[in-house]
Amino acid sequence: MHRNTRIILGITGGIAAYKSPDLVRRLIERGAEVRVVMSRAAMEFITPLTLQAVSGHPVHQHLLDSDAESGMGHIELARWAEIILIAPATAHFMAKIVHGEADDLLSALVVASEATLAIAPAMNRQMWQNPATRHNLKTLVDRGVSIIGPGEGDQACGEVGVGRMTEPDEIAQQLLGDGIPQLFSGKKILVTAGPTWEAIDPVRGISNRSSGKMGFAIARAARDFGATVTMVRGPVNTTPPSGVECIGVQSARQMRDAVMSRVSGTDIFIGVAAVADYRPALQEDQKIKAKEPEIVLKLIKNPDILAEVAAREDRPFTVGFAAETRDLLANAKKKLWDKKIDVIVANDVSGEDGAIDNDTNAASLIHQTGVVQLERADKYRLAISILEKISVLMNPEPSTA
Ligand code: CTP
Repeated sequence: MHRNTRIILGITGGIAAYKSPDLVRRLIERGAEVRVVMSRAAMEFITPLTLQAVSGHPVHQHLLDSDAESGMGHIELARWAEIILIAPATAHFMAKIVHGEADDLLSALVVASEATLAIAPAMNRQMWQNPATRHNLKTLVDRGVSIIGPGEGDQACGEVGVGRMTEPDEIAQQLLGDGIPQLFSGKKILVTAGPTWEAIDPVRGISNRSSGKMGFAIARAARDFGATVTMVRGPVNTTPPSGVECIGVQSARQMRDAVMSRVSGTDIFIGVAAVADYRPALQEDQKIKAKEPEIVLKLIKNPDILAEVAAREDRPFTVGFAAETRDLLANAKKKLWDKKIDVIVANDVSGEDGAIDNDTNAASLIHQTGVVQLERADKYRLAISILEKISVLMNPEPSTA
């Protein structure tokens, strides 16, 4: 399965529908385009507005809706989809698919589409064990429908047993996980992310503007490409991606120490962190009282983590990020040479479209012999493109000349 896989997520009326926004996110994270279709009963559990917000597209609800039909009508939608995923799939909806019923939009799409069909059933354990459901399940399996789950555990009805919808991340993984080529399987990747915090006193300090989103996206994408990922991150509020070892630090020197104690044996180092270039010469133990009309702050240069990694004898493939407000390419190229690294990803941080705090970003990837322009995309997709390019640079195809 390729990235940009077009998925219709069909939500039917079960309590697990409350997990649907998370599922949409997990699918998009893996590069899918998602359109949501809800059954009438699903709307009793979660509002279309929520799903519209997370998917970025209006939710399709009705079969015979003139507005919808003049936009993307049901046949067009059926042709658009490469995968139809029904999650949660109720016992009733499974029965409907078995019988080819087409009395609402979602069931009509299933009948009208050639897309791969996958379902993640969710129901009470008795309903799951019921002979009718067993029979329907067997029919669907025989027809080649992919069945994801259900899992075992506590159920909303208070019972314990099989019938819980598989967790969203796991559904997305089963559906798309294998689609991402394991380019970095067996490789160790070390990433820095976020800003650093250089304390002046216990409440004040110097920092750089950085949300940590790009570094987190790189770590996630590297994980999805099969690498073993360690991330050293400065102070940010974002939850680290699962499956990534995450070490939290504050200052540049702490970040340096955390990196240096882990870099040996690393295949790729990616410095995404916005490391503060300077720190106060003195750090006061007590809060400085604002009595003086003027104070002078002496700053000392921090260690350059990226350059230090690149200077090691056992240097990994070394990638830096350059945040620039002007002369993007010239400044970034200078950093590539000065720090003696393999690749630099240049970000324009000026203006409202700049990299900082934005969910999307454009970048130029500069290596020893060329420049690649990477189009504006959400940070995860940009991370995927960056890592794909790194993989090509690390494994050049043998020359045919
Ligand atoms: N970097 C680092 N340690 C530092 C400073 C920067 O590891 N003390 C890394 C960053 O993680 C990034 C790259 O170096 O990958 C470029 O950082 P940037 O701040 O843009 O460049 P500087 O070298 O600080 O140059 P300037 O501030 O003059 O633009």
